[in-house]
Amino acid sequence: MAPIVGWLEDAVRGMTRTRVVFALAGLTFVVTLNGMARRRRRRRGGKKGTEGEEQEKRKGRAAMDLSLRSMDLTKPALSYLDVFLEALGNQWTPSMNKEEGYICLLIAENKLTTSLVSKRFKQVKTVPDSVFAYTSFRGEPRFRQAVANYVEMTFCPQARIDPENLAISSGCGAVCEAGEEVLIPSPYYPAFDNDLRVRSRVLPVPVLCSTATFPLPSNEDLDKAFAACRSPRILLLTNPHNPLGVVLEPEEVMRCVKWALQRGMHVVSDEIYANSVHGAADGAEFKSVIAMMPELSGMLGKELIEERVHTIFGFSKDFCASGLRIGCLHTKNLRLLAAIDNVGYFGGVSGHTAHIMTEVLEDKSFVKKFVQKNQENLRKSYNTLVSKLKEADIGFLPAGAGMFLWIDLRKYLSERSWEAEKTLWTGLAKDAKVLFTPGKDCHAKAPGFFRVCFAWVPEQALVIAVDRIVRHLRKNQLDIPMLKNLLAE
Ligand SMILES: Cc1ncc(COP(=O)(O)O)c(C=O)c1O
Repeated sequence: MAPIVGWLEDAVRGMTRTRVVFALAGLTFVVTLNGMARRRRRRRGGKKGTEGEEQEKRKGRAAMDLSLRSMDLTKPALSYLDVFLEALGNQWTPSMNKEEGYICLLIAENKLTTSLVSKRFKQVKTVPDSVFAYTSFRGEPRFRQAVANYVEMTFCPQARIDPENLAISSGCGAVCEAGEEVLIPSPYYPAFDNDLRVRSRVLPVPVLCSTATFPLPSNEDLDKAFAACRSPRILLLTNPHNPLGVVLEPEEVMRCVKWALQRGMHVVSDEIYANSVHGAADGAEFKSVIAMMPELSGMLGKELIEERVHTIFGFSKDFCASGLRIGCLHTKNLRLLAAIDNVGYFGGVSGHTAHIMTEVLEDKSFVKKFVQKNQENLRKSYNTLVSKLKEADIGFLPAGAGMFLWIDLRKYLSERSWEAEKTLWTGLAKDAKVLFTPGKDCHAKAPGFFRVCFAWVPEQALVIAVDRIVRHLRKNQLDIPMLKNLLAE
């Protein structure tokens, strides 16, 4: 998410590139200044204190060597990071019995079809000398052409994609950015908070959604959030949705885009799951914002749409390849693209990776087969998970995309509070050794919802996880006042 915040702001306001580079290099810049100040103080000399005082001063200085910004970077990106790291060191594997090891269902990573990508990658044997040289920092032209063809062939057949409107960088997190405040319909992808805040220093603002328009906010919800902001610049939509795993209704997306543009904002549509529509549960047909641009232009004017509507997609999820760090931005805003050309230096894709990916994308029959197989695998795991949940009478929101299921454990809370959600989560993590994402981290409206990521573990692990969850809930249910009341009714 980081570099673009600055880019978008500056591109829009016509500021110099220097500021963008400064924003990106801010950390180094501040550290250097503090180092210089310290050397100056040392040259001037100073009265020595006691050993204890000197130690305290040293500690203070060490702390001051970090800018406020870098102090921010040392905070854990997610509230559950410590438990998660512990779990990673002792994960369940098929060779263990059902009670051993942790089952991690909180990583938004798809491992179900990695083997196919990996096999195809290994078939690319060529390493041309060009991969060792500098090239366009928003992606070498052949790479951009291959990506444009991929988009047209897969999730956006309605539009012609001009490779000149693409910028490719190291992951989608490095692509989307904003100005001062970014409105995000909640619940949302928990790492947006970290990604937007720490590097780009913009403020994510959750927008609660009315029941009638859920999972998108109504215009009144948006108006309310807008009025409470100091400087709202961007509306960030995620479609298909993370954490809900649903596809947004195209008409509803258009309504929200229109709302934002009429208020002078930009719209970023994060479509990182565009090719992960598995369709297990009936839902809307996915339509990219890129395909909506002509209709939006007809309503609001081509110039406005081309300046302010930006789409993100990538290969981390849809190609089971988050480690490759390939994210793409589609925009017709030429000033934004020029700014990215400049700062792309800090987050470009390695020439070697770009070369292999280009070769793979040019193999259209592989791409078609892969996307289809991956969707099939997602659907299979989804179905296994939901049939177990149904047996266990655990509620969930039917989903049709991505690797997520939003489950409802409200009836197992001791009371309706975030503390009770945390207690339930901790019990499940420590006792059942099953980890998923707490709704609070996703800015859920009410406590008791959890995001389950079902594509990071084999199907068999999903079955064991639900059995463990049920056992834990049953073991504890008589201590739960809300359940006791229900049972007494
Ligand atoms: C909605 C959304 N956007 C962006 C990202 C970050 O993607 P990348 O790893 O390509 O930077 C994620 C990763 O989980 C995501 O779910």
